[in-house]
Amino acid sequence: MDKKIHILGISGSLRNGSYNRELLVAASEMMPEGIIFEFADISQIPLYNEDDYSVAIPDSVLQLKDQIRRADGIVIATPEYNRSIPGVLKNVIDWASRPRNTQPFSGKPLAILGAGGRSGTVGAQGHLKQIAAALGMQILLEPEVAIQRAWEKFDGDGKLVDENTRQLIKDQMAAFNVFILSASEKEIMPGVPV
Ligand SMILES: Cc1cc2nc3c(=O)[nH]c(=O)nc-3n(C[C@H](O)[C@H](O)[C@H](O)COP(=O)(O)O)c2cc1C
Repeated sequence: MDKKIHILGISGSLRNGSYNRELLVAASEMMPEGIIFEFADISQIPLYNEDDYSVAIPDSVLQLKDQIRRADGIVIATPEYNRSIPGVLKNVIDWASRPRNTQPFSGKPLAILGAGGRSGTVGAQGHLKQIAAALGMQILLEPEVAIQRAWEKFDGDGKLVDENTRQLIKDQMAAFNVFILSASEKEIMPGVPV
């Protein structure tokens, strides 16, 4: 791949001071040299309604789909809500996944991070992998970044300061870089119409 690698980061939390958003910031800071990291803004995306979809797709959704399409890889940082991903994140994935035969997730490399409580978002990450697989994404499985007791890893300004966690994210992003380069040589899997 001659062109620069372009990565899109999506946070599953809209909260001001979100730990998961900060994981994305840390990931963007620790990317290997020369990678372009863009942050998706999902705050304006309405709740999915098939009626709205048939009339006009909102600009916020069109913009997100365009960002996904242009990206060489997607990084999602998700909290865990009741052992799954937040509805906010599922909603934007559902919007972007239609129409199925041209959905932009197909074949895209995906890295997942999560910061949560005692379970460290492993339940949410499992569900996200299931969704991503249904969309034909190529999922980086190792190293996992599942941060337990997130509040202990950030300082008073919300910055990720735990050195072990920062190193883990750095390792994951290095692995993701290699994963993207090998994934780009594979054939893109078309979405299966449902
Ligand atoms: C509705 C709701 C459900 C939650 N369920 C879980 C859970 O199942 N497991 C967990 O570890 N934390 C759970 N939490 C706590 C979140 O992981 C915690 O608030 C986390 O900081 C949210 O991520 P953020 O800082 O990026 O907003 C829940 C929080 C909310 C608001």
